[in-house]
Amino acid sequence: MKKKHPRQVAQTPRKSALDNGAAGFNRARSKLSFDRLVEVGAKMGMENPLFVCHERAAKATTLINGKEYLNFSTYDYLDINTHPEITEAVTQTARTFGTSAGASRLVGGERPQHLALERAIADLYGVEDCIVYVSGHAANVSTLGFLFGARDAIFYDGLAHNSLVQGTRLSGAVKYSYAHNDCAALEALLKKHRAKHKRALIVTEGLFSMDGNIPDIPKIIGLKQKYNCMLLVDEAHSLGVLGKTGRGVCEYFDIAPTDVDMWMSTLSKCMCGCGGFIAGSHELIEYLKYGSPGFVFSVGMPPVIAEACRKALEIMLREPERVQQLQNITKYFLEYAKSRGLDTGQAQGYAIVPIIVGESITTGILSIALLKRGIYVMPVAFPAVKEGTARLRFFLSAAHREEHVRQVLDAIVDELPKAQAIVEQYRREHQDAQ
Ligand SMILES: Cc1ncc(COP(=O)(O)O)c(C=O)c1O
Repeated sequence: MKKKHPRQVAQTPRKSALDNGAAGFNRARSKLSFDRLVEVGAKMGMENPLFVCHERAAKATTLINGKEYLNFSTYDYLDINTHPEITEAVTQTARTFGTSAGASRLVGGERPQHLALERAIADLYGVEDCIVYVSGHAANVSTLGFLFGARDAIFYDGLAHNSLVQGTRLSGAVKYSYAHNDCAALEALLKKHRAKHKRALIVTEGLFSMDGNIPDIPKIIGLKQKYNCMLLVDEAHSLGVLGKTGRGVCEYFDIAPTDVDMWMSTLSKCMCGCGGFIAGSHELIEYLKYGSPGFVFSVGMPPVIAEACRKALEIMLREPERVQQLQNITKYFLEYAKSRGLDTGQAQGYAIVPIIVGESITTGILSIALLKRGIYVMPVAFPAVKEGTARLRFFLSAAHREEHVRQVLDAIVDELPKAQAIVEQYRREHQDAQ
């Protein structure tokens, strides 16, 4: 028998000496929805479904505790991670450059891999320049935090990623959150508030990570022009996914790249590395390179990662059939889910499809039940999504096959009523569970 990873053993919350002390976080922690899922699961003798340790690259399938699982929780949408060309390029790079950039690029200097990656991304978008940060989250936080200030306004989608919201907060700009994917709501806010501010930015994702839906970018560009705003589009989930060849929002809508002031994406999804970028005008990028704290005061991206991302981009462009496969399998998933009576919300069939369950705890238990059946898919609950809309969030990949899709969706149809019954019973027995 393989030994379980320590995190995978059912955990009963323990009392700590710090519980009531000023330095203790146990009380605060108990408010986290994830922790509640672990706690209730543990009381029911279930394993912690979070922080599981994968024993090889997680692709369409993965290995956990020596057991193979079908996997729907990895962002490797184009099935490029572990590609032999990337492994080879990274190995060669490591021989000369090691694994660290050693210092901030501003003071410690560039490596050729940084420049090559930034050039490749700028060319992909057809814009002048690009800056790469070591983290996608930090790219948003630092860029927004640095560029905007108290006299400015940031208008962002109600379901914008945490990094965009944190960046907005850090900037001190006045925040206006508009109803998710609702251009009329955005325009109402612009009409009412835009004139009060010096500069204004509209922020949206290219493909929403919680719902798998796509905003009307041409309409948002129209609003940006009408109300004299800038526009940032976060392509974390749309780069590699939208458009015939994976060039993202630009290709999907056939828009001019310069209609968007800042193209942002992480490099942790289709680009198989980590980090994030902003692509746009040379003037903007130079300003960020000399001032944005998450770039200036943070180490440069490891050259091996920059090389991996550049190679992944090259493979994406060379093999557009991967993009096609991803789009085909997601469409199949969406149609099959609907045919089985499951709620897929607003998903449009591009890489991300939620199966909306409703209650957080039922969703968690369903995910644990699927884990027991050899299927790994993670629940998303409040506060990441609205109360009552908890879901299993599926990330499809070009490596998934139709039989994988049928296997998981049939299992959900089977397990969902059981999960609902468990919650009902738990409620009756533990009145304090709610
Ligand atoms: C829309 C969006 N933006 C930014 C990020 C942050 O990227 P990273 O995880 O690469 O730091 C994510 C991460 O999932 C995301 O979904």
